[in-house]
Amino acid sequence: MSRPLYIEGGRVVDPSQDIDDLAAVLVVDGRIEAVGADISKPDDAETLDATGLTISPGLIDVHVHLREPGGEHKEDIATGSKAAIAGGFTTIWAMPNTDPPIDDPAAVGYVRAAGRAVRASRVMPIGAASIGQQGEKMTEIGELVHAGAVAVSDDGHPVRNSGLMRRLLEYTQTFDIPVLQHAEDPGLTHGGVMNEGRVATELGLRGIPNAAEAAMVARDVLLSELTGGHLHVCHVSARQSVDHLRWAKDRGLAVTSEVTPHHLILTEELVRGYNTQAKVNPPLRLEEDVVAVREALVEGVIDVIATDHAPHHYDEKEREFDDAPFGINGLETAFGLCMQALVDPGYMTLSGLIDRMSCGPARIMGLPTGSLRRGAPADIVLYAPEEKWIVDPARFHSRSRNTPLAGRELTGRIQTTIVGGEIRFVAEGDA
Ligand code: DOR
Repeated sequence: MSRPLYIEGGRVVDPSQDIDDLAAVLVVDGRIEAVGADISKPDDAETLDATGLTISPGLIDVHVHLREPGGEHKEDIATGSKAAIAGGFTTIWAMPNTDPPIDDPAAVGYVRAAGRAVRASRVMPIGAASIGQQGEKMTEIGELVHAGAVAVSDDGHPVRNSGLMRRLLEYTQTFDIPVLQHAEDPGLTHGGVMNEGRVATELGLRGIPNAAEAAMVARDVLLSELTGGHLHVCHVSARQSVDHLRWAKDRGLAVTSEVTPHHLILTEELVRGYNTQAKVNPPLRLEEDVVAVREALVEGVIDVIATDHAPHHYDEKEREFDDAPFGINGLETAFGLCMQALVDPGYMTLSGLIDRMSCGPARIMGLPTGSLRRGAPADIVLYAPEEKWIVDPARFHSRSRNTPLAGRELTGRIQTTIVGGEIRFVAEGDA
């Protein structure tokens, strides 16, 4: 048994218990034992000095691409989960669009076991919704869940077939897991590579209209209403999608959704100069879309923030814009970018942000973490919310460096990340 851990001198921000105060945190046997200003320190405890730092439940990201198997030149389970703890994430959900896709129980078991072996962030596998992510035949969902899958998704691609989506939303209820939908109507995307509009026209690039996303969100919300199944809409980017999500919330449907840090602050303007680092799916949109998704997140119409961490190799991003892959490397910049997008300008409190990045994901997905309440697994992040730092992709723990944020100053630095009471990350220079 390990020694108790006593974290002292910090400010505890835990929205799950409405705590924002100077307090100590005591961890015993990998679980939270107590949080408070006047808790005593056991004689045998290891002490962690958190003076000047904020202490919160570890961040949870329900949308990450780890690329293993088949894409290890971009990322693998080890590098991805190390990037996660460096970004303050104590739990990540791994998308199944690997090569081959994670569509059978052996593959799910492999991701889970490999994740555990790394001893970084907790890695939870998402199983494919359809065999080979081909969108035709449903996977053996019961077997995937039995092997450890926490959700199903064909992310990277949408579940296009309405009948299949209906059956997925029906069948997953038996296992109490969500269907994570990459909402996109391929007939409307039609080879598009960026947001449809003036910039795409000026650059001579094919555009993806907001309706490609919003039409699918509308359909899926109706299917959730029909079936009662838990629909989770991935990476919401379009203002019209928000209208459908609000409609679903107003009716009390089992619909949740996420927005990425990049869609909360960046716009299509970044694509100018044929900047492939800003090529992502769904694409960066207009300021009015950024405002709409931000307001929806503040209101709770969009439930959580998820990175859609999508590592890609340097050479792949160096291709012509049309041929470069979609995706932004997100785990290590997420917290700083969200601080800049939401907390610095006063749209959200720090506590609000921690809710959307930790308590919220735990709440909507039924996880025991995302809280510092007594008995919860001791997944904790220590950070300096006001510290400025410059993004240097060469220092990423991720194997890939694809980010449009290189050289940008962000606010809020992750200092120490604790998983199950074990200190698994300490920022360089602070060890
Ligand atoms: O930009 C994206 N990259 N969007 C996706 O849906 C998939 C992801 C990837 O796997 O690279």
